[in-house]
Amino acid sequence: MKCSTFAIAALAFVSSTDAFMGISSPQVSTPSSLGMSLETYADELKATADKLTRSGYGLLACDESTGTVGTRLESIGLENKEENRAEWRELLFTTEGLGKYVSGAILFEETLYQTAPCGKTMIEILDEQDIVPGIKVDTGLKPLAGAGEGETWCSGLDGLFDRCALAYARGARFAKWRTAVRIDEEKNLPTALAMKEAAWGLARYARVCQETGLVPIVEPEVLIDGTHTQAVTAKVQEEFISTVYKNLEENNVMLEGTLLKPSMTVSGVECETKPTPEEVAQMTVQTLQRVIPPAMPGVTFLSGGISEEDASIYLNEINKIDRKGPWALTFSFSRAMQSSCIKTWGGKKENKEAAQKQLLARAQANSEASKGEYKAGSQPSSEESLYVKNYVY
Ligand code: 13P
Repeated sequence: MKCSTFAIAALAFVSSTDAFMGISSPQVSTPSSLGMSLETYADELKATADKLTRSGYGLLACDESTGTVGTRLESIGLENKEENRAEWRELLFTTEGLGKYVSGAILFEETLYQTAPCGKTMIEILDEQDIVPGIKVDTGLKPLAGAGEGETWCSGLDGLFDRCALAYARGARFAKWRTAVRIDEEKNLPTALAMKEAAWGLARYARVCQETGLVPIVEPEVLIDGTHTQAVTAKVQEEFISTVYKNLEENNVMLEGTLLKPSMTVSGVECETKPTPEEVAQMTVQTLQRVIPPAMPGVTFLSGGISEEDASIYLNEINKIDRKGPWALTFSFSRAMQSSCIKTWGGKKENKEAAQKQLLARAQANSEASKGEYKAGSQPSSEESLYVKNYVY
């Protein structure tokens, strides 16, 4: 289903069930309403951001688009149809105990408005675990004319206010927008244009989200594709994330009601030297300290193609370092949370329990890592690289 179809279905849903979760119909944007409602939501935005990043908690990212989740389902022999996508997401959300480690789940639009095979809505299932639903609101990366080879811009600003208002009415309390730049030293990438465009899009998105009561997760990903060293990644991240914060400030975004979802500062996947976990941690913390204002409450890292075990080990090392910033440093992994779970499941009912155990193990490991208390290998995981060239959501 396309976004517009979801939105129509959602509008019908919202107007017919105003009583749902005690919410009323969303206000539709008018120029005069913009700029007024941030005041209304300010306390709620701060409370949501703090709840999502409270000690020992992180996010389960499962907002893969229909095509991307389809690739995963097909890898275990399941057809990419709505019924199978719903069964997969239901398996994740009904994992007993998940709410002890996971504070929020990032959903694709279909999932937010979906009913699980058990008859409950996905939102109801998450609510029972005290997991806050969030929604991916960008509509994907497109070629950026006039920039470097293969560079992109992130689409999704059109109709964003109304989509966010609908998502809030349905129960979502935060949103995500992922934009990405790639490093290629020979081609001088990323260009300043690509970073500027990415930062501006993130800032516009963030401000619109806050108007509707959704905490924006700001995700300026630096892709791991390439041969570059860790030092090059750090330099690009410093410039890119600083540009993002400059743009957030220009757009009057309230930083206390936002979260940042960056990559960890690793080397390119084809670089000859791979930094140690301690080096990843040291450089990640140094980079973040240089660019993130203290008012921003939490960093929720993406996994970006690194293995499940490495993602947990890196996060753990990051949290062992004394840092100047007051922000939480936690997880918002997709591949590094779900990969061994979906493999264990294999689309078979008899494996469901084992698959849920696997997800819970990764959730517990990452929760421990967010406190610097994870013992490598203490929970089952996969060490297999999860890197996919030119990965899309
Ligand atoms: P990965 O952890 O697979 O990189 O996904 C991150 C993400 O942005 C999903 O919301």
